[in-house]
Amino acid sequence: MDVPAEPGDLVEVRTERGRPLGLAFFSSTSQITLRMLGEGPRDEKVLLGDRLRAALAYRETLAPDGNAYRLVSAEADGLPALIVDRYADYLVVQTLCQGIDRRLDLVVELLAEAVSPRGILVRNDAKIRRLEDLPEVVEVVAGEVPDLVDVREGEVVHQVDVRRGQKTGLFLDQRENHLAAGRYARGRALDAFSYNGGFGLQMARRCESVLSIDGSELAVAAVAENARRNGLTNIEARLANVFDELRELEIAKERFDTIVLDPPAFAKNKATLGKALGGYKEINLRALKLLKPGGILITCSCSYHVNEALFQDMLLHAAIDAHAPVALVEKRLQARDHPVLLGVPETAYLKCFVLRRV
Ligand SMILES: C[S@@+](CC[C@H](N)C(=O)[O-])C[C@H]1O[C@@H](n2cnc3c(N)ncnc32)[C@H](O)[C@@H]1O
Repeated sequence: MDVPAEPGDLVEVRTERGRPLGLAFFSSTSQITLRMLGEGPRDEKVLLGDRLRAALAYRETLAPDGNAYRLVSAEADGLPALIVDRYADYLVVQTLCQGIDRRLDLVVELLAEAVSPRGILVRNDAKIRRLEDLPEVVEVVAGEVPDLVDVREGEVVHQVDVRRGQKTGLFLDQRENHLAAGRYARGRALDAFSYNGGFGLQMARRCESVLSIDGSELAVAAVAENARRNGLTNIEARLANVFDELRELEIAKERFDTIVLDPPAFAKNKATLGKALGGYKEINLRALKLLKPGGILITCSCSYHVNEALFQDMLLHAAIDAHAPVALVEKRLQARDHPVLLGVPETAYLKCFVLRRV
């Protein structure tokens, strides 16, 4: 006899005809009622342990150039709504649906066993938890975790505020793109929407100078501090609204050899797509006007709703309006520790195009 599911239950999903489709976490409040785990053992410790070990083994094959990266990327690792990020010897965990949240203790036990971190911090202050009727919590659940953790990305050292930083502290999904930008960068560079300087610090190692802009005081202070600690004296960290600042730079007839645009997700849902595309076009158009002929624009969007085709079309129209023909040099995605699950299109969200002004 079927019994009603409780919030966060691990349930068996079947078709109307009774054919089994696999296991899923049930949510009593979210529009995403079922988060599929697929086929696997009913023993939760065995199921989650197997998935976790497979996720860790995959990260080892990537041999990341640094010690901050994603160990578990939710659905793409068969562990719905579970995020585990490694920052040197510490782990930061997010449990973003009722099912995985209910099993947080088990997840912590398995992580402690498999990774032996010095501490585990739960960063469950993501707004998305409200949709699951889950409270906002930030707490250390194992060992000790300092406020600031030093990590390495390529040759650059970042000081990460794991408790207060955006996401879990860094934009780890851009890790490989930061390093790629370092390879493309030259001359005078602009890092717009810099956050803590993920792109800017890599570029400063190759460039004459970097102007880094962000609207967050914490982020701008972090860029300045990170520059100092890395011995980089050619970065100016400016607190400003990028939309206004790009206009000011254009009026002042400033020009750059390399520009990075990495805005927040302008399209949070389908309803705001039109407005979001307008925002993306505005910043890209202005950036192209600021770019010297032969210069490189590294332009990103982390809006899932702006798919690759829409993004490319927007860039074409920005280039036409800026009277700045561009060639597409490279299309990049989120870092490989944030893999895309083909059956779940939402896991493909980050676009990072490298363009050259012809
Ligand atoms: C996607 S994050 C940038 C991540 C960063 N490029 C990295 O790779 O680490 C977007 C950043 O834009 C900033 N931001 C959002 N709106 C802004 C605006 N209108 N002007 C300036 N900064 C803005 C946020 O503070 C945030 O740091």
